[in-house]
Amino acid sequence: MTDNKIQVASDGTLTVPAHVAIPFITGDGIGAEITPAMQQVIDKAVQVTYGAERSIVWKEVQAGQHAFDTLGTYLPDDTLKDFADYHIGIKGPLTTPVGGGIRSLNVAMRQGLDLYVCLRPVRWFKGIESPVKHPEKVNMVVFRENTEDIYAGIEWKACSREARHFYEFLHDEMGVTKVRFPETSAFGVKPVSIEGSKRLVKAACLYAQSQGSNHVTLVHKGNIMKFTEGGFKNWGYEVNDECFGGNVRMDDCICDAFLQNALLKPEAYDVIATMNLNGDYVSDMLAAQVGGIGISPGANINYEQGRAVFEATHGTAPDLAGTNQANPCSLILSGVMMLEHLGWTEAAKLVTAALETLFGDGYATADLARFMDNGKPLGTKEFADALCDVITK
Ligand code: NAI
Repeated sequence: MTDNKIQVASDGTLTVPAHVAIPFITGDGIGAEITPAMQQVIDKAVQVTYGAERSIVWKEVQAGQHAFDTLGTYLPDDTLKDFADYHIGIKGPLTTPVGGGIRSLNVAMRQGLDLYVCLRPVRWFKGIESPVKHPEKVNMVVFRENTEDIYAGIEWKACSREARHFYEFLHDEMGVTKVRFPETSAFGVKPVSIEGSKRLVKAACLYAQSQGSNHVTLVHKGNIMKFTEGGFKNWGYEVNDECFGGNVRMDDCICDAFLQNALLKPEAYDVIATMNLNGDYVSDMLAAQVGGIGISPGANINYEQGRAVFEATHGTAPDLAGTNQANPCSLILSGVMMLEHLGWTEAAKLVTAALETLFGDGYATADLARFMDNGKPLGTKEFADALCDVITK
């Protein structure tokens, strides 16, 4: 298997073997249906493009409810180790443990592997119903910082001993008098670092250059949170000067204005670099704008270490599990991102083209087909089969 492992140079460049091993997590709920669908479609595209010369050697690893039931842990150490060793992996949705030690498996994986970029491309497919008049004008890629900000998980419950202690520190040692109801306040901490911000913005700039737009918009709330969000903005501009000689076309926008502008003039934006909380809101709003919250793909990446985990962005849809109705497109498009990341772009293009063909003809799973003028609903398996049928050179 060693020969099938991706090698990573010190600058993060990948050397991808022809028959590359990719660890995958099937996922809970609908994962059992959408993950095989994704593998079937990706395998077909690779086979049509490269014949016997290239293939993906899928290696199953465990996480989620299934791992808990069989191994007694939601996230086995071996799974993180495999993702680290093999560098690139893909995952279906995971049940969030209720009342356990882990708040979120996804957050634990992002932090455990230091996957500091959450990458979300947002584009519209012809045929997909959208709530806006011109969804074709939306074509953006969001770089969301994944490891810092108010999402770092540093917070204390209202009225707890820790919250009181924290307030005493604020009041007695830092001279803070602005907490309106100190006795009953919960507290959270928002760490935002120079390194964390700069590596995120640098990755966004490199991506913008590689795609030819060379245009990055920093989305922040620095008018109010001057040191954290304002710091992010300032360090972003510094990165442009320090690493790119100021040659990236960079601008910035206050987050609330961005949410408005993205609806009114989406064509003004290309690559968005933003912090964790803003990025969460922005990604879902943009995905909804192209009618695709159920089909938007995502990836979590550390470019320096050459690590990436591609993922469905929706949850386990327990209401659909086992019914052959789940839409596999979020995971399939994440597989497309994975192929692009591996440099197997010809195969990636075939899948995208096949999706365009099927959607254009009204074929989709029921969640999308019911809103299409000429919608013809297909089951998960039948949709994957139909995609494979139209994947040709
Ligand atoms: P959900 O995304 O699973 O479902 C929300 C709604 O969207 C449901 O009506 C569902 O039927 C529909 N839906 C979701 N994916 C679909 C698909 N592929 N095709 C068609 N319809 C789809 O969110 P919910 O119900 O809040 O969470 C269920 C579980 O998933 C929870 O344990 C939650 O923590 C977990 N979750 C995991 C995520 C991940 O692993 N990335 C992300 C979000 C939730």
